[in-house]
Amino acid sequence: MLKGKVIVLGVTGGIAAYKAVELLRLLTKAGATVHAIMTRSAMEFVTPLTFQTLSMNPVHTELFNLISEREIGHIALADRADLFVIAPATANLIGKLANGIADDLLSTTVMATKAPVLIAPAMNVNMYQNPIYKENEARLKDHGYLFAEPARGMLACGWEGEGKLQEPQAIFEAAAAALTGKDLAGERILVTAGPTREELDPVRYISNHSSGKMGYAIARAAWRRGAEVILVTGPTCLDPPFGLDTVAVESAEEMRAAVMERLSDSSVIIKAAAVADYRPRQRSDGKIKKSDQPLTLELVKNPDILGELGKIKGERILVGFAAETEALVENARTKLTEKNLDMVVANDIGQVGAGFNVDTNIAKLVFRDGRVEELQLMQKEDLADLILDRVIELKKGNRG
Ligand code: PMT
Repeated sequence: MLKGKVIVLGVTGGIAAYKAVELLRLLTKAGATVHAIMTRSAMEFVTPLTFQTLSMNPVHTELFNLISEREIGHIALADRADLFVIAPATANLIGKLANGIADDLLSTTVMATKAPVLIAPAMNVNMYQNPIYKENEARLKDHGYLFAEPARGMLACGWEGEGKLQEPQAIFEAAAAALTGKDLAGERILVTAGPTREELDPVRYISNHSSGKMGYAIARAAWRRGAEVILVTGPTCLDPPFGLDTVAVESAEEMRAAVMERLSDSSVIIKAAAVADYRPRQRSDGKIKKSDQPLTLELVKNPDILGELGKIKGERILVGFAAETEALVENARTKLTEKNLDMVVANDIGQVGAGFNVDTNIAKLVFRDGRVEELQLMQKEDLADLILDRVIELKKGNRG
């Protein structure tokens, strides 16, 4: 998604400048070529050498550096960039950009570019709420500048509130979104992810190995591509993705309730969650004590959320998953027909690199018309985009 893209990373002077180092690492890891521009005050917080070493490109700091101006001057950088990301962006820099002041390398280069510009502000909460700042921000937004809005939290100045630089992963997501075509604009996609937990008592539960990676990858990709996304997730160790509405649930019954509540708002539903098929008949209020006798658990069936959705889906595209260890395609076809699905993503969880708790998957996409698309081992991120490509095709097919 960022492979081969040229990103200019502008760093201004704030304590959060150290987080730009992590952002740089994420961008280069995703295959982007990054050129850093640091303001004079940024260099008070982090050294150019850090950015130079990690980007493997010279860091640009001076407007009037004759050698670098000839080789790769500010206009050349402005022209070559696919995207500008400014993180952290101070109120000062934002004020300059909003008022057409170009008095250093960063502000000059940003003014000279035609590339999209993503601004990640970081400042004291009172500065952030200052009406002059707000006017500047609104002005830039009107002109098409993108913002990775700051988070709330404890600020370096001792105040608590809005103004904290977004996490590098969130800025990375916003950068990827800025470079992605919006072919899912107008769609409202409900994605389920992760396992469910069915409690036995206050300390124990029945669950499975789902990490949430597959479902989160789909949710992130859909958001990047312009969809409004609701992610209903069982308990995972993953951070809630930036920009989406994330609803955390524990049990299958909670997941069912969360999905049904949001059903009317969605045009596409993708059920990547690994829902426990059974739950204990009774949950003990106290911790179940061990004894010398064997313990028998009585399990009852959980609601089949996908099956219920199939009955009421209407015009929506409904995508189910199938995690199987045998007869993958046959089982997927049975699910497709019995649950009235438009597509099943069948993963053979017996294969190395497929299924639970890994970054990759090996899937077969099974369609209503009998087609089966066999996919090779790939990153869950790439499979997510492929699933969404097929969803778009199915929607087009439905429209005739
Ligand atoms: O989370 P990861 O670690 O990245 O792993 C990804 C995954 C293996 C969990 C994912 O790729 C996957 O296969 N998810 C579905 C797992 C599963 O529960 O398969 P199933 O064959 O038991 O269920 C079939 C479908 O019915 C699924 O879409 C499931 O969400 C749904 N279901 C299942 C049971 C139930 N009570 N209600 C449901 O809606």
